[in-house]
Amino acid sequence: MRHITSITDLSLTEIDQLIETAQDIIEHPVKYRDLCRYKKLATLFFEPSTRTRLSFEAAMYELGGQVLGFSEANSSSAAKGESVADTIRTVCCYADIIAMRHPKEGAPTVASQVASVPIINAGDGGHNHPTQTLTDLLTIKMEKGHLDNLTVGLCGDLKFGRTVHSLITAMCRYPGIRFVLISPEELKVPSYVKIPLKEGQVPYSQTTDLMSVMPELDILYMTRVQRERFFNEADYIRLKDSYILTPEKLQSAKDDLRILHPLPRVNEISTAIDADPRAVYFKQALYGKYIRMALILMLLEVKA
Ligand code: CP
Repeated sequence: MRHITSITDLSLTEIDQLIETAQDIIEHPVKYRDLCRYKKLATLFFEPSTRTRLSFEAAMYELGGQVLGFSEANSSSAAKGESVADTIRTVCCYADIIAMRHPKEGAPTVASQVASVPIINAGDGGHNHPTQTLTDLLTIKMEKGHLDNLTVGLCGDLKFGRTVHSLITAMCRYPGIRFVLISPEELKVPSYVKIPLKEGQVPYSQTTDLMSVMPELDILYMTRVQRERFFNEADYIRLKDSYILTPEKLQSAKDDLRILHPLPRVNEISTAIDADPRAVYFKQALYGKYIRMALILMLLEVKA
């Protein structure tokens, strides 16, 4: 039995296999329609979500399985003081696999220590979001055709943005990757996230100026400033509109740039960009369903 609490729980070979499976699901959906019949996925979301929870649930339904769970802590016995460990022990009695989101960093690891079914981290605080990273990798593979030899710009809240942390950890394992880290000084990538860059001698630069690096980028990964992780509302208000991508700002970008965003978007990408063929963030949300289908199959050891 396997748990996925971090993207490093998967080898590069396994990530590539998941991407291949997701691509096969896109091409041959009927083949996968009944593979999880009589299997149940529990989605335990102690923190709000639209895409991750619903794409996990759509993924399980498309595999012929069933879904149970809750979408907020207040509708579970967590509101009465139940521990994560006891909740997980209980849900393991009812489900074959669990996807959980929790505001506390490390909660999915605690869950994995007591679980008798696979646990998938669907986002833990400002820490990790491995299935978003799988989504991002599938999106880049579908859009660019490869995951190596790319200049990847990550822009916005790189301190609290858990999707960025997991994506750096994953992409630095591919050859020829260069990162451009674009953020206000206060929202720079934490030092621990840069350890694999230093160990792997992966080139990266840091800047506060998006426009100065725009012409270099193959991928621009925009992120929201994470209001819920700030201790101080005044700081959030000061920093929230640090980067607002507009059509004018894209004039110096490559024609084959791809703009990703894990969503939800607040104000950091103008809606005027949505019709630009380089904007792929809603396709990205769709790819999230296919890669989660592939991950459920892998963890339940179901073969097509
Ligand atoms: N990308 C992402 O995690 O979105 P949700 O918070 O809507 O799940």
